Amino acid sequence: MIDAEGVIKRFGPRTILRGIDLRVETGETLVIIGGSGCGKSTFLKCVIGLHHPDGGKIVVDGIEVAKLKTEAEIADYRRRFGYLFQEGALFDSMTVWENITFGLRYLTDIPSGKYRGIASDCLALVGLKDVEDFKPSELSGGMKKRVALARAIAAQPSYILYDEPTTGLDPIMTDVIADLILDLQKQLKVTAIMVTHDMKAAYKVASRIAMFHEGKVLQVAHPDIIKISDNPYVRQFVDGKSEGPIKMKLKEFEAETASNAQPDKEGS
Ligand SMILES: Nc1ncnc2c1ncn2[C@@H]1O[C@H](COP(=O)(O)OP(=O)(O)OP(=O)(O)O)[C@@H](O)[C@H]1O
Ligand SMILES: [Mg+2]
Repeated sequence: MIDAEGVIKRFGPRTILRGIDLRVETGETLVIIGGSGCGKSTFLKCVIGLHHPDGGKIVVDGIEVAKLKTEAEIADYRRRFGYLFQEGALFDSMTVWENITFGLRYLTDIPSGKYRGIASDCLALVGLKDVEDFKPSELSGGMKKRVALARAIAAQPSYILYDEPTTGLDPIMTDVIADLILDLQKQLKVTAIMVTHDMKAAYKVASRIAMFHEGKVLQVAHPDIIKISDNPYVRQFVDGKSEGPIKMKLKEFEAETASNAQPDKEGS
């Protein structure tokens, strides 16, 4: 179980997460939605310990990530997670199989002689074969996403954090990846958080959906409840309307930039 309580994260004078309360039960797939820049990726990075919260806490399987000290403790914590980065983050100079098994030498005691076979098994799970020796530059966008998925599952994690696994893909490939994620949940029985802008994919894979807005959780509910939500922010997002309370315009960016000249009210 992942339990986030009052998580606050600041970058300089800007407070990005303003008290995130969110619990992800074992075995469920929690989908996070919300406007660009509202802190979804930042939250995932706090969960895995790449960022340290400035307030509140994140507890996973009874372990508070911010309290981990030694490299061994941190490695032991990270071993629980597969992470699909928003940018994909494949290493261009490495082959597909080297990319997939890159983390194993840090996270597991598996002998390196087994890596290539593990990579092939993971590729099969995501519906790819015979691409072990390709370089990322030789793959299509959809294939890269699948390889990133294969890498996320290589160390057999209990938790998978997917940051926009379908962004930039055509609608059919999006559906294929959403099906894959559902299959992985069923086959590997992982607990997952998926960030997405794609409501169709969200409805397909979510046990529950959490809407982030301005660094807080606005609503968290079963997809059927989100579909009929009367919260105007949630409504605007799920309907994909430019009109509504969420302003995602250059104007707001300008306003935000101007307000950053002043110390953030909640900043210290
Ligand atoms: N390492 C960092 N240093 C400074 N600011 C950061 C850092 N990472 C993120 N931010 C800022 O935090 C805010 C939230 O970023 P984040 O990547 O979490 O948004 P997001 O909700 O994932 O957006 P998107 O949907 O566009 O991916 C942004 O304004 C971003 O500029
Ligand atoms: Mg993001």
